[in-house]
Amino acid sequence: MNLEKQIYTRKSCRKYLDDEIDLNLIHDFMNRVKQLNEGVNYHYEILTLDDVNNHNRFSAPYYLAIFADRKENYIDMGFIFQQLCLYLQSIGIGNCWVGIDAPKEKSSDFVISIAFGKSDDFTRSRDKFKRKHLSKISDMGDERLIPAQLAPSAINMQPWYFKHSADGFDVYQVKHNILKRQIVKKWNPIDVGIALAHMYVANEDTFEFYKKTDFENIKGHTYVGSIKI
Ligand SMILES: Cc1cc2nc3c(=O)[nH]c(=O)nc-3n(C[C@H](O)[C@H](O)[C@H](O)COP(=O)(O)O)c2cc1C
Repeated sequence: MNLEKQIYTRKSCRKYLDDEIDLNLIHDFMNRVKQLNEGVNYHYEILTLDDVNNHNRFSAPYYLAIFADRKENYIDMGFIFQQLCLYLQSIGIGNCWVGIDAPKEKSSDFVISIAFGKSDDFTRSRDKFKRKHLSKISDMGDERLIPAQLAPSAINMQPWYFKHSADGFDVYQVKHNILKRQIVKKWNPIDVGIALAHMYVANEDTFEFYKKTDFENIKGHTYVGSIKI
């Protein structure tokens, strides 16, 4: 299983086949997924299209609905479940985070869903990625940030910023103007968690996430933590 390789070929999958999937593969992977912060309370449910209010122009045979009680843990949800997305991709299962689809059965701790299913259209070449330049997502362009650069994000906003530190990077979430904030405020921490998942799978042996008290305040950005890689 090579999750890192998936980063460079993945695309959000919007074309699915109806084939059945062995869902135990998902449960097994989730038993060994890496956590960002220990002790975060969350769970997931696997639903089918019939259980979901689908507002996208595409549909998938399966939806994984994520639940967490605290908004502070949305970054963890991005981190944890993007590893699953890369794993699914590695076994031929396409997937797409779907911010606008939700389970029909309402629940106050519902966070977001991921559409998934067998597909023959979930990869692409590197030159097809539309992403900000490395110099726009960090204080100094640094190729070690390419895995984060290629991460998916809600409406491709890429709301992450990395500032070099002695042993890695301080990580920030970009603050948006009020209009944009209304739309993406729920998703932006998930996006940052997704980018951190890519940094983790690309640096599996050395990755560490921790919080500093003496971080620099950067105007228009919120500090979320620091990584060693
Ligand atoms: C939190 C989140 C929510 C998303 N919601 C949707 C969605 O509702 N519908 C959709 O088609 N794509 C959705 N996407 C996929 C993004 O549009 C996509 O990641 C981005 O445009 C970059 O394209 P790529 O993933 O193919 O590289 C979402 C992605 C994230 C991370």
